[in-house]
Amino acid sequence: MDQSSSLSRIDWVAQSCRLLVATAAEFRGTKPFAGLTIGTGIHLEPKTVALLMTLRAGGASLVCTGNLNSTQPETVDYLRARGIKVFATQTRDADEHGASLDVILAEKPDLLLDNGGDLFARAADKPYPSLLGGTEETTSGRTRLLPMRDRLNMPILVINDSPIKQFAENRHAVGQSLFESYLRFTNRSTNGKRVTVFGYGACGKGTAACFRNAFSAVSVVDIDPVTTLEAHLDGFTTPLREAAIRSADILVTVTGYPNIITVADLPLIRDGAILMNGGHFPHEIDVEAFRSSLEVAGIDRYEAEHIETVRMRDGRAFHILGGGHMANLAGPRPLGNTVESMDLGFTLQARCLERVAKGGLGSEACVIPVPADIDAVVASAYLDLAR
Ligand SMILES: NC(=O)c1ccc[n+]([C@@H]2O[C@H](COP(=O)([O-])OP(=O)(O)OC[C@H]3O[C@@H](n4cnc5c(N)ncnc54)[C@H](O)[C@@H]3O)[C@@H](O)[C@H]2O)c1
Repeated sequence: MDQSSSLSRIDWVAQSCRLLVATAAEFRGTKPFAGLTIGTGIHLEPKTVALLMTLRAGGASLVCTGNLNSTQPETVDYLRARGIKVFATQTRDADEHGASLDVILAEKPDLLLDNGGDLFARAADKPYPSLLGGTEETTSGRTRLLPMRDRLNMPILVINDSPIKQFAENRHAVGQSLFESYLRFTNRSTNGKRVTVFGYGACGKGTAACFRNAFSAVSVVDIDPVTTLEAHLDGFTTPLREAAIRSADILVTVTGYPNIITVADLPLIRDGAILMNGGHFPHEIDVEAFRSSLEVAGIDRYEAEHIETVRMRDGRAFHILGGGHMANLAGPRPLGNTVESMDLGFTLQARCLERVAKGGLGSEACVIPVPADIDAVVASAYLDLAR
């Protein structure tokens, strides 16, 4: 052995993003972003590094910030060490985060890569003529930007509205990572456990399937009877809500709506049950109301594990993972969704930014889904690597 080196998780993730690695190699030749600055406002974590380095390979200058509460300092250090301008701190303070967004926009980037609409909403208030358009990653960003279309009046492609994002991330990756999170937090088995999944949308389908494949007996509760029928025909049991809670050893919420499990359900929860949430906001399991309920005798905390045990006055106890936050981004060593799912989504990002940079879209493309031909190119590239 003549040479060896010590590599980080960021390096591991970067070389695992095979589509982005291939896209970066192409961009080094084609330079779609030559002379352009891209302003980014997206979680600063290892998978994002692979995307940002791909954009830079395409000739872009980058000015980057993160989202509220998700900036990872090692990622910031890694990017700065490679000469990328980063204005971000790990903060829950909206004003502090807003100041970072202002710094990005003060640089007047030609393109924006947004996550949640933070940058475009500010650009709608303070427009500047050189802004060509860009991308938005999320559903919540799309909802926020749609009413601003008249003021934005530029191409903005919404990555979440690609079928690839829907099935690669929501359906497949979220299920896997919630399942992985259950094991990671608890070190407990899934075999023979009765699991109830609330919500049988894209994320719920993957979650239910992953636990079933790990030898659990899985029930599904969905507010929509048509979706519940689908779960039934997919072979899951579909008891009424109350029976589904009573029977569950593990309860998982993935609906996107608040108050799925509330204090009114406390009498139903089985002794020893484990509760976890995969929905975006920490409001699906009303943990705050549990804390002040008169039925609760006390709460014990396993601090390092991010597990709370709620002790009931009647002698039962149950456990909550990660305070009811998205479990795959909470707890010890949170990894989020798989590299492959993010590699697909971020390659859509890179291709969409390339399309906007090339000037192929007009203002009628303001807040629209990823163009179908880009979906097809990205899907083919992934399949080619897999064959
Ligand atoms: N953890 C992650 O990494 C991750 C990734 C993507 C999405 N998400 C989040 O997961 C959540 C679900 O996303 P999705 O794509 O599956 O949404 P979806 O709209 O496809 O599915 C939601 C399902 O929940 C059902 N539902 C709504 N209210 C309910 C209730 N009171 N009881 C039972 N079922 C109810 C709906 O009928 C629907 O079938 C969202 O909050 C989304 O932002 C999380």
